[in-house]
Amino acid sequence: MSEQPGSNLEVLLDAETIAGRVRELAAQISADYRGRPLRLVGILKGAWVFLADLVRHLDLEVTVDFLSLASYGNNSYASGAVRITKDLDQTIEGLDVLVVEDILDTGQTFEYLRGVLEAHKPKSLKLVTLLDKPSRRVRPVRADYVGFTIPDVFVAGYGLDYAQQYRHLPDVRIWRAT
Ligand code: IMP
Ligand code: MG
Repeated sequence: MSEQPGSNLEVLLDAETIAGRVRELAAQISADYRGRPLRLVGILKGAWVFLADLVRHLDLEVTVDFLSLASYGNNSYASGAVRITKDLDQTIEGLDVLVVEDILDTGQTFEYLRGVLEAHKPKSLKLVTLLDKPSRRVRPVRADYVGFTIPDVFVAGYGLDYAQQYRHLPDVRIWRAT
């Protein structure tokens, strides 16, 4: 039998640690939005695993929509070079919206996204990200809720990919060119 996919990668955040932090985030979000219906907008594909875990711990009236982005050329999402490959299915006008992201890196993706979403006039717009790499930021973007602040390493697993691989791993691992 061949080796498990990703078994050569070093674990940065194990599944239990992630699960505990996701519950804490859900409790905080539930308290902050108490009594208000919340629309979650998950950014595909990276945020799908995080969103699936988070939503099941929210003690709120929640609806879910997804938006998919692709970059032109390389995968750095340079601002202006992002396009929406799957738009929202339902309007967010007048709603409390919480964008769910896998990782906040340079900030270019969310800066673009914020402009697009604000044009639809939500009542409020906030961001929850599982991971934050503040040392890489080139745009003035901050998340309202952060799962883990991590150093400048490339990670995969728990929804995040390297070349579309490793999204199914239950933990977050460090990917290094070998
Ligand atoms: P930003 O525009 O640089 O903030 O890019 C954020 C996006 O880049 C994320 O939603 C991910 O899709 C991708 N990304 C950034 N860092 C990593 C990483 O370490 N692993 C996997 N994807 C990453
Ligand atoms: Mg992403």
